[in-house]
Amino acid sequence: MTTPGVLPESLLHEITSLTDPVDLAALFPERRPVELELGAGDGSFLLEYAARHPEHNFVGIERLFGRLRKIDRKGRRLGLLNIRGIRIEAAYFMRYLLPPASIVALHVYFPDPWPKKRHRWRRLVNEEFVRLAWNALQPAGCVHLRTDHADYFEQMQTVFAAHPGFEPVPTPPDLLAVQTDFEKEFLAEGRAIHRASYRKRSTG
Ligand SMILES: C[S@@+](CC[C@H](N)C(=O)[O-])C[C@H]1O[C@@H](n2cnc3c(N)ncnc32)[C@H](O)[C@@H]1O
Repeated sequence: MTTPGVLPESLLHEITSLTDPVDLAALFPERRPVELELGAGDGSFLLEYAARHPEHNFVGIERLFGRLRKIDRKGRRLGLLNIRGIRIEAAYFMRYLLPPASIVALHVYFPDPWPKKRHRWRRLVNEEFVRLAWNALQPAGCVHLRTDHADYFEQMQTVFAAHPGFEPVPTPPDLLAVQTDFEKEFLAEGRAIHRASYRKRSTG
């Protein structure tokens, strides 16, 4: 239970059931549209974007506890009431715990590229991911993707193009303006960054 206007002791939400979907909106003192980031890392994107958008609530999924603790620490230091972190495997969360039509945006920035051919099945963004994203998004909700890996980006574009329920849209400038930690590092190294956004059509 969280009280409006009061920072909770922790911004981390502990999953207590591996089968019951998580009511994301109920994790916050005020019910607002929810945006979800998978593989949030240290929260470089989540913290800055949430601070810029107090009218939305934000949930970060991350499997490493140390990174989530940084999000918790920094988020509370910044007094952000609109952030929660959950420690869980992203594909499992999408498949079993994310309720239908529960989010307005899904952010996936620099997911592990699994470059070797025999490891590609481990990639998060695949055909199933697109179906699950479509189910989880509210009408006109968007998926935003970034990667430095050209082959993975091609896969991302292929699987989204194959789903009639999504259409490509430009990434909004206020979103582009917020760079993640990995993005800053890759840009400093002079590497190309690939970005794409897709909007949910009302039928598909
Ligand atoms: C390359 S980092 C990118 C972090 C951040 N998005 C950024 O751009 O700075 C990938 C992050 O995703 C997390 N991650 C990788 N696979 C995951 C999975 N299956 N479930 C949850 N988190 C995962 C990693 O622990 C890591 O923090």
